[in-house]
Amino acid sequence: KTGMFTFDPGFLATSACESKITFIDGDEGQLYYRGYPIEQLAKESDYLETCYLLIYGELPTRAQREEFEHTVMKHTMVHDQLTRFFNGFRRDAHPMAMMVGVTGALSAFYQDSLDINNAEHRKVAIYRLISKIPTIAAMCYRYTQGLPFNYPKNDLGYTANFLHMMFATPCEPYEPNPVLVRALDRIFTLHADHEQNASTSTVRLAGSSGANPFACIAAGIACLWGPSHGGANEAVLKMLDEIGSVDNVPAFMEGVKAKTHKLMGFGHRVYKNMDPRAAIMRETCYEVLKELGLENDPKLKLAMALEKIALEDSYFIERKLYPNVDFYSGIVLTALGIPVSMFTVIFALARTVGWISHWNEMISDPGMKIGRPRQLYTGSPRRDYVPSGDR
Ligand code: SDX
Repeated sequence: KTGMFTFDPGFLATSACESKITFIDGDEGQLYYRGYPIEQLAKESDYLETCYLLIYGELPTRAQREEFEHTVMKHTMVHDQLTRFFNGFRRDAHPMAMMVGVTGALSAFYQDSLDINNAEHRKVAIYRLISKIPTIAAMCYRYTQGLPFNYPKNDLGYTANFLHMMFATPCEPYEPNPVLVRALDRIFTLHADHEQNASTSTVRLAGSSGANPFACIAAGIACLWGPSHGGANEAVLKMLDEIGSVDNVPAFMEGVKAKTHKLMGFGHRVYKNMDPRAAIMRETCYEVLKELGLENDPKLKLAMALEKIALEDSYFIERKLYPNVDFYSGIVLTALGIPVSMFTVIFALARTVGWISHWNEMISDPGMKIGRPRQLYTGSPRRDYVPSGDR
């Protein structure tokens, strides 16, 4: 499937790009990270191993995995002065606003000693981002709740440590539920990368100017926030709340067909078949809710009814609209105790490895040129200036 197209290098320098990281077949609904099907990685691997795979292109040996995990978990704390940025935010600020601001501020702490043309320096930046993004994400949540920040607990493992930083309180013991840890870790893996999506393209374009990786990741977070992209998981939950019950689905669907609103969590720029991540997310949803005794969760029932009706409706079939990764993720995240306002933050946390892997792949290419998308001009032809008195 690869090599089907050959691009003129000049064309590559201005718009499309080549990458070895992720392959999507939108018609077949297939997604491979470095050649490995997402279905296998979601079931057999875990997020940190997937991070290693996306960065280095190969699955790690046991020793490589241990060294990678040790290094990532050694740098989970942030500079104490970085925590003061939060005081400038209102307590009701959207967590994504804080994620953009504080992640961008990492530039002020690590940028000076960073030469992006030095592979070792790029490796340090990559590891720092993967290490610290969960800490910053949890701080965004704690700040909105008026709770003190939790220090990382590095012996807990990457995903369990994130849940600890999110929910532990000094007043009572907190042990992350292993079922919830496994489910969240799988959600991280499903969101880790996705080829040249809008936010990854944003990171690449920003990086192509030589901007530092922390600022580039902040740009990716900003782009991901939109409801047509990573903000869709939050929009799905709001949509399910608005619909309320299965009885209201037919009227809602009429509004979709009349184009007064979209069926959030459905459709995709590339997939014209089921997004393979959506199927795994639905399965994870069942597992978590069943484990928690919530298999009759009304939101899950409503989502399943919506999906069933849409998949049988000619409007959606003709337009090849299927559930995407965002359709079920919000229901699972809710069951994990994560508030709606944090859904896109979770997406950003997980996608950071994809963004920084693409950044690294691009910067490592000695032939890299600054991105410069071209345009088709449709404005006025040349005309002469008219003095204001003659207008
Ligand atoms: C992500 O790019 C990536 O890889 C992104 C992502 C990643 O991992 O990085 O996969 C993550 O962003 C997933 C998408 C999350 N967004 C949503 O769920 C929001 C709802 N979806 C839509 O806004 C929409 O489907 C887009 C933005 C995702 C895609 O928009 P397109 O490219 O315009 O869709 P299309 O060309 O396939 O649309 C064909 C038709 C149009 O109608 P007609 O003009 O032919 O009559 O389908 C309609 C669209 O209006 N349509 C929808 C719809 N999505 C498209 N109608 C109702 N509900 C929808 N969700």
